[in-house]
Amino acid sequence: MTHESGTLQPDAVRGMFDRIAPVYDLMNRVMTAGLDRSWRRLTVEAVVQPGDRVLDACCGTGDLAVAAEREGGIVTGLDFSSAMLERARRKSDTVDWVEGDLLALPFEDGAFDAVTVGFGVRNVASLEAGLRELRRVLRPGGRLAILEITRPRGFLRPFFSLWFERVVPLLGKVLPGGEAYTYLPASVRRFPGAEDLVRLLHREGFEQVRFRLLGGSIVALHIGVRT
Ligand SMILES: C[S@@+](CC[C@H](N)C(=O)[O-])C[C@H]1O[C@@H](n2cnc3c(N)ncnc32)[C@H](O)[C@@H]1O
Repeated sequence: MTHESGTLQPDAVRGMFDRIAPVYDLMNRVMTAGLDRSWRRLTVEAVVQPGDRVLDACCGTGDLAVAAEREGGIVTGLDFSSAMLERARRKSDTVDWVEGDLLALPFEDGAFDAVTVGFGVRNVASLEAGLRELRRVLRPGGRLAILEITRPRGFLRPFFSLWFERVVPLLGKVLPGGEAYTYLPASVRRFPGAEDLVRLLHREGFEQVRFRLLGGSIVALHIGVRT
C-alpha cells in the first residue's frame, strides 16, 4: 500500500487516515513540538476576515477549521475520512462538517471568501486538479492559504532528514495506523518545493502569491488570491 514514490490511491489514503485518527492530534503535537498551533493561527490570520465564508479542505480532526471560526469565519470543514471527521465534530458544533472529496467538492462556484488547507494537498492524487477545484469554489478575489511541510534548504536539511525519514517512520511502526508516518517522507519528497508551488499557483489562476517559511523552514505557508 505504501509506495516509495509517495503516491497512494485515494481509498488507501482515506483508509490510512481512518486508522490514524485516534492518535493524529497527539502525533501532531509531538512531531511539531506544539508549534502547529501557532502555524494554524498564522494561516487563518492571513486569509480569514470576520464574516467570511470559509472552507477548510482536508480538515482532518478540525484544528484549522476551529481556528478559522475563532477568527470570525463562518466555517465549513471538509474531509473524506469519516473517522477524522468524527473527532472534528467533537471540537465544534457550529462548524459545518462535510464528508467529501477535495477533487469533487460538493459546493457551488464562488461559494467561499477564503479557503484553507493544512497538511492536506500533499495527499491528494492530483495537486493540479485539487487547486483547480479549490479555485472553482472561491469567489473572484477570494483568498487561498496552503500550509504544508516543505523540504528545508541549508543547515536544517540533515536534521529534517533524520527526523522525517528516520524518527517519524519509526514512531509510525509502533502506532496504530502508523503507516501514515512511514509514507509521510515520500509524500513530502514528491511535493513541489516552495518556489515551485508559487509557480504552480500562478499557473492555476492565483495572483499575489507569496509564501513564508515557518518552524525553521520545515513548513511553508503559501497565500494566493483567486483571479
Ligand atoms: C495530514 S491530515 C491534515 C488534517 C488537518 N488539516 C490538519 O491540519 O491537521 C490530511 C487530511 O486530508 C484528508 N484528505 C486527503 N485527501 C483528501 C481528499 N481527496 N479529499 C478530502 N480529504 C482528503 C485526509 O483524510 C486527512 O484527514
